[in-house]
Amino acid sequence: MRNPFLVKLMLRVAESFSGSGLRFGERHAIAKRRSPRVFSCTIIAMFARRTGWNLSTNAFTHAVERHQHSGRQLFDLTASNPTRVGLQPEDPQLLQALANPQALDYDPQPRGLLAARDAVAGYYGQRGEKLDPSQIILTTSTSEAYSFVFRLLCNPDDEVLIPAPSYPLFEFLADVQDVRLVPYELIYDHGWQVDFYSLTKAITARTRAIILVNPNNPTGSFVQPHEREELNRICCDHDLALVVDEVFLDFNLGDRPSRSFATNQAALTFTLSGLSKISGLPQMKVAWLATTGPKQLASAALERLEVIADTYLSMNAPIQLAASELLLQRKNIQPLLLDRLRTNLAEFDDQLAKQKSSQRLQVEGDRHPRMDRREFVQCSARDDRARIDRSVPTLRRVPQSRPARRTRFRVSQLLQNALTA
Ligand SMILES: Cc1ncc(COP(=O)(O)O)c(C=O)c1O
Repeated sequence: MRNPFLVKLMLRVAESFSGSGLRFGERHAIAKRRSPRVFSCTIIAMFARRTGWNLSTNAFTHAVERHQHSGRQLFDLTASNPTRVGLQPEDPQLLQALANPQALDYDPQPRGLLAARDAVAGYYGQRGEKLDPSQIILTTSTSEAYSFVFRLLCNPDDEVLIPAPSYPLFEFLADVQDVRLVPYELIYDHGWQVDFYSLTKAITARTRAIILVNPNNPTGSFVQPHEREELNRICCDHDLALVVDEVFLDFNLGDRPSRSFATNQAALTFTLSGLSKISGLPQMKVAWLATTGPKQLASAALERLEVIADTYLSMNAPIQLAASELLLQRKNIQPLLLDRLRTNLAEFDDQLAKQKSSQRLQVEGDRHPRMDRREFVQCSARDDRARIDRSVPTLRRVPQSRPARRTRFRVSQLLQNALTA
């Protein structure tokens, strides 16, 4: 479109619909700065603001590409794709399960086929958590399960509290659902813990839910029993829901079994998990959402969720019929993966032992013998400060009764790599 009058007119019309904070002239100027070609003006005006991401390739990706093109070998220490790290045992039964002739019948069930939901309930049953299949809704990924929950709970610009540090995809999941994320802090003080001062301070009239990641990515920390109690209490007091991401629940380096929220009753609770991590099968696209809580609230939530799920009916038949076999796969992959984690951690400790400038934070439940000998956080009794080393900025212990100062920290990238590679 080359006619400047028409371009202006279109931008004005788009502007009046989009309600952008930018005035016409400003938006036009930005469009011009981004590209001299006229059609880029209409690109900016035509799409929703939530899609205004920075889509340029970052410097790291450029560097990796340059390295690869040069023909040099690349050791990717950030590799975390379980299907490409030499762990997947070849199991012909897995593929056979996908060829079930029953898949030729179309049986649209918004919550998912009962056989698959039975298998998920059986998974919790084996962990000692009793769940009825009617409380489970199948989704193609945990990410999709988040979108269902956001759709259920939030009007545009409503707020959801998320832990910091945590999983970076949250920003995108929230953006595309017009949900605002408000962080609450996890602090490291002889292990990671929820900073309840920062959490309660973050609650406003627009807050709809608190997200927990149990265990959290990247800290690897589980929600402790006393924290669960306090979180239930806060949710009941403020009419909030708990949204608990448990994709890593089975990957516990400790001796004590990790407890799921899938049977939590005190507050309205949505527990999310799936096969991408539990069975190391992200390509199969099977996840779920378990809804529990006060009876009336939980069944009202389930009825509404069913309509959301019915709108998409995103699960396919072959995968649902194979779900119990795919879930069984966890018994093969989990011991291998945990073994890999322990080996990597031991190697990491060996490397750390050769130098004095940095130390690693404690991994929850870690019973590595060297952990007991080393003092990971040296506390000065005088000023109640915990100092790690120069690679991790000073951590301050924040007594719960006192207003928290912002705690700054950085989890060692090396540790994350050791845990995922
Ligand atoms: C904490 C957490 N939740 C969810 C996911 C994504 O799970 P899914 O593949 O089921 O969408 C990830 C992926 O890394 C994750 O780290």
